[in-house]
Amino acid sequence: MTRPLTVLGIESSCDETAAAVLRIEPGAPTPTVLSDIVLGQAAAHAPFRGVVPEIAARAHVEGLDGVIAAAMREAGLGFAELDGVAATAGPGLIGGVMVGLVAGKAIALAHDKPLIAVNHLEGHALSPRLSAPVAFPYLLLLVSGGHCQFIAVLGLGQYRRLGSTIDDALGEAFDKTAKLLDLGFPGGPAVEALAAKGDPRRFELPRPLLGREGCDFSFAGLKTALVREVERLGAPSDQDKADLCASFQAAVLDVIEDRIRHAMRAFDGFWGAEGRLVVAGGVAANRAIRAKLEDLAETNRYAFYAPPSKWCTDNAAMIALAGAERLAAGFSDDLAVAARPRWPLDEVAALTRPSHKPGRKGAKA
Ligand code: KG4
Ligand code: ZN
Repeated sequence: MTRPLTVLGIESSCDETAAAVLRIEPGAPTPTVLSDIVLGQAAAHAPFRGVVPEIAARAHVEGLDGVIAAAMREAGLGFAELDGVAATAGPGLIGGVMVGLVAGKAIALAHDKPLIAVNHLEGHALSPRLSAPVAFPYLLLLVSGGHCQFIAVLGLGQYRRLGSTIDDALGEAFDKTAKLLDLGFPGGPAVEALAAKGDPRRFELPRPLLGREGCDFSFAGLKTALVREVERLGAPSDQDKADLCASFQAAVLDVIEDRIRHAMRAFDGFWGAEGRLVVAGGVAANRAIRAKLEDLAETNRYAFYAPPSKWCTDNAAMIALAGAERLAAGFSDDLAVAARPRWPLDEVAALTRPSHKPGRKGAKA
C-alpha cells in the first residue's frame, strides 16, 4: 500500500442497518474510523422474540439511505472522495444482504468506484484489527447469533476452520435461554445481566462435548436440559430465573475452557505460530466470557485481543476494514457479484467436513 485508502462500508445481513467510513494509511498501526452508524431493529422484532427476515429486509430498505447519508456526513466526505465501496454480500438473511449489496453497487456504479463484496464473517474475523495492531496469524473464536467456530486466521482471505458447532450457535443458545425465561430480545445481554444475580451451582446442567477430541461445540443438549428444569419448576420465580441463567452461563464457561484448550493444541500443532487469541462476534460482548478467555489466554501464554463491544456486534466499520484491506491487496469485485445466503470462510472445510447436513442450518455451515 502506497497511499491512504478511504472506504465506505455497508452492513445489512441480519438486524442492524449500518454504514461506516474508514481510512487505512501506510504505516499506521490501526485504521481511522471516520464515522460508524448503526441503526438497530430490535424494537421491530421484539414482539416476535426473534428476527423476522421479511421485517428485517423491509427495515433495511427504509433505513439504509439515511444511515449511509449520516455516515458520509459525519465523515465530512462526498462519495467522490472515496477509494471504494464495501458491502456485505453474505452470509446472512438474503433479503437484507441484497438490500445492502445493491445499495453498494449503485454507489460504486454512479461514482465509478471499485466495489468490494465482503464476507460478513471476514468482517468479524478482522474486527480486532479495528482497535489494535493484531498481526497474522491468530486463533479466532467467532461467537455470534448465527456462527460459532474456531478459525485459524493466517492472513487476509486465508482462513482454516478448526472446529464449529454441530447444532446451535452460542448466541442462539443465549437467545433461546432468554426466550424460554421470557427475558425479551435480544437475549444475550439479558441472560448475562440476570446471571450476575444468580447462583451458578444451583442447577446441574450438562457440559456438551467436554473432554471430547477436536474443538467442535454443541449447545442443543444444554438447551434441552434448561427446558426440563423450567418444566420441573412450573412457574419459575425471578430468583429461579437468575439461578438458571447463572447455571447456564457457568456451563458455557466450562465448555469454552475445554474447547479452547483443544483449539490451541490444533492451532499450535498446525501452524506453529506465536500464540494470539482473538474473540469476535456478538457473544464476545459478554463480560464473563471475555474475562474467562483473558484468563485462559494468560495461562496458555497467548496474547488476548477482543474488540470493544460496539465492534463485537454487527457493524459496518468491520465491513469497511475488510473492504479496505482487500482493496489494498488489489482485490475488487464485478458489479454482477451475487448476494449469498451461505458463504463459509473456509470453503474447503465446508465441502470436505460439513458441520451440518446440506440444507439444514444455512449460514452456520
Ligand atoms: O454478531 P451479532 O451482532 O450478529 C450475528 O452475526 O449473529 O451477534 C448477535 C448475538 C445474539 O445472539 C446476542 O444474543 C448475542 O450475540 N449477544 C450476547 C451478548 N450480547 C450480544 N450473548 C451473550 N452475552 C452478551 N452480553
Ligand atoms: Zn455478525
